Amino acid sequence: MSSNLTGFFIILLTVFSVLPHLACADESSGRSFVLWAGSGSANTCLTAECHATLGRAKYVHAPLAEGDCLVCHDTTGQSHPGAGSIVLLEEEPGLCLQCHENPAAGMAYPHSAIAEGCTGCHSPHQGGLPKLVVQSGGQLCLVCHEEVDDGKYVHGPIRAINCKMCHGIHGGDNLAMLNRPGNENCLGCHSGIQDIMDNAVFQHEPVVNSFCWDCHTPHASGYKPFLKDYYPEEFYAPYKKENFGLCFSCHDETAFTYELTSEATAFRNHNDNLHYLHVNRQSKGRVCKACHGVHGAPQDKLLLANAKSFGHWAIPLTWVSDEDRATCYVGCHQPKTYSRNSKVSNL
Ligand code: HEC
Ligand code: HEC
Ligand code: HEC
Ligand code: HEC
Ligand code: HEC
Ligand code: HEC
Ligand code: HEC
Ligand code: HEC
Ligand code: HEC
Repeated sequence: MSSNLTGFFIILLTVFSVLPHLACADESSGRSFVLWAGSGSANTCLTAECHATLGRAKYVHAPLAEGDCLVCHDTTGQSHPGAGSIVLLEEEPGLCLQCHENPAAGMAYPHSAIAEGCTGCHSPHQGGLPKLVVQSGGQLCLVCHEEVDDGKYVHGPIRAINCKMCHGIHGGDNLAMLNRPGNENCLGCHSGIQDIMDNAVFQHEPVVNSFCWDCHTPHASGYKPFLKDYYPEEFYAPYKKENFGLCFSCHDETAFTYELTSEATAFRNHNDNLHYLHVNRQSKGRVCKACHGVHGAPQDKLLLANAKSFGHWAIPLTWVSDEDRATCYVGCHQPKTYSRNSKVSNL
């Protein structure tokens, strides 16, 4: 082909591709922008050569289906196609809020993602999924929150990638855009814990007055059962601080490290620390749940009536206390009495 002829074809091609777009940008003409398919009009952004796939997906955004490109795009006067020739009319989310109400309007906890725009989650044009979402279900959430399932143990609803079970999408009226207030988000599925709380004579303050997730991770954790720090599963554990990291994040460890004390704990026979005696051992150190029920318990001081974790035997425990003295009636030894003020001998 001669170079003249090549030049002619290039000009021809340019005219063909640029013309419709110049027209597309001509708002004064009053002509609307219609789809190529069926319309037969050359006056469109959607030609066999240009943006041919737009308008042909399963779900097409209404303004696009109408061919109204310029409700969102604007021309700059630079020749099109070419860098900088077409821009967005406005920044997001304002661009979308021309026609849509802010979907988080009036919500106490709007999703911060919205401030950054709508197209992190919705395609502005079209797609294969309803509501023009770019990913389905919880997969959409993982696009930006991939760290949520990090952890050796992953909570059931997260393994099912079902974020909607607990969270709103555009926002919500509860903290962290949760569907329900506080612990109701957990107790609906964990009615056993609700039963323990309802039947408890003595409540554990953070369980009733704070959140399950003071201690549990709602999504995933390196510690069983989805705890924020380590807590032994066994009935006996050698004493070290890390073994009770969860409890010591709120309670003072000295109740377990001073062999003698007049104040670190009330569980003492005068100065002999009975917490130390039971817990602070390298062999057969008792764990807290040998005596305490973390979600609530039938006796004062969060004391269990039965320590169920020891094999199949539920060790009975009855604790009777007054201002000075307390007596433990337990399955593991003779009843023993201690006094916080003057030593009692249990022979
Ligand atoms: C509802 C608003 C809206 C409408 C209507 C719209 N667009 Fe867009 N378009 C956008 C946004 C927002 C982006 C930027 C997307 C991004 O950065 O991910 C974009 C990007 C583009 C791009 C470049 C990136 C890509 O997806 O290929 C092209 C080309 C485009 N639009 C063409 C069109 C044409 C042609 C029409 C009309 C048939 C149209 N748009 C109608 C909002 C819209
Ligand atoms: C020019 C007006 C206009 C603009 C601008 C606009 N939309 Fe729409 N959008 C509509 C109309 C009309 C519908 C169809 C409403 C209906 O079916 O109830 C719609 C529907 C939707 C839907 C629901 C689709 C469905 O299947 O129900 C989503 C999601 C959406 N738009 C997102 C966006 C996003 C994101 C932007 C900004 C990039 C945007 N819209 C900008 C007019 C607009
Ligand atoms: C974090 C992701 C995300 C962001 C950000 C987001 N949306 Fe959505 N939006 C969704 C999902 C998911 C649905 C589908 C909800 C469903 O199926 O119940 C949806 C549904 C919609 C619908 C359809 C509503 C209905 O009741 O059917 C509209 C309209 C909409 N969004 C508009 C917007 C607009 C406008 C913005 C920005 C101001 C936006 N969305 C930002 C995820 C998002
Ligand atoms: C396009 C990115 C993006 C997507 C997709 C996304 N988010 Fe977000 N989300 C953010 C940003 C940004 C923040 C604010 C910073 C942060 O906490 O990470 C946020 C915050 C949150 C928060 C904390 C809110 C608070 O008040 O503390 C929750 C909960 C959340 N997102 C849930 C979801 C869920 C559920 C989905 C899926 C429906 C989702 N996100 C999809 C970007 C996104
Ligand atoms: C069983 C209920 C539940 C489910 C299911 C759930 N979350 Fe959460 N999520 C929570 C609770 C409770 C909080 C508040 C935690 C806090 O404040 O410490 C939270 C907080 C968040 C936060 C903000 C703080 C953080 O931990 O980063 C993000 C982001 C988040 N969730 C994303 C998701 C995503 C994504 C999914 C789905 C894969 C999901 N969540 C599923 C209960 C849930
Ligand atoms: C939609 C139902 C559902 C909701 C809501 C839910 N969970 Fe769960 N949870 C499960 C299922 C199913 C399991 C068992 C499977 C597994 O190990 O994850 C489980 C297991 C657990 C376990 C471990 C139980 C064991 O015996 O090892 C803990 C702890 C837990 N969830 C705490 C929570 C907390 C805290 C919340 C609220 C933030 C919550 N769950 C909300 C369904 C739910
Ligand atoms: C003060 C910390 C703390 C709080 C708050 C807390 N838990 Fe727990 N949870 C634990 C510990 C520790 C375990 C392990 C219990 C054990 O083995 O004795 C546990 C175990 C569980 C289990 C496993 C089954 C069981 O009975 O051992 C579930 C389910 C559970 N918690 C749900 C909840 C729910 C729901 C809430 C909120 C109402 C909640 N937890 C609040 C510390 C806590
Ligand atoms: C999020 C903080 C927090 C965590 C974690 C926590 N507790 Fe508590 N606990 C409290 C608060 C607050 C009280 C009530 C005030 C007080 O007496 O110290 C309390 C009270 C108690 C009581 C009754 C004390 C009394 O004087 O009446 C016992 C027993 C107890 N916790 C045991 C535990 C055990 C065992 C663990 C670990 C599994 C644990 N706690 C983890 C905050 C926590
Ligand atoms: C052998 C049973 C037993 C074990 C094991 C045990 N406790 Fe106690 N604990 C008690 C008794 C009994 C009291 C009540 C003391 C009193 O008021 O006379 C108590 C009281 C407490 C109190 C109230 C403050 C105090 O010290 O008087 C806290 C907090 C506490 N225990 C936490 C724990 C934690 C955390 C663990 C595990 C590291 C643990 N306990 C292990 C029996 C036990």
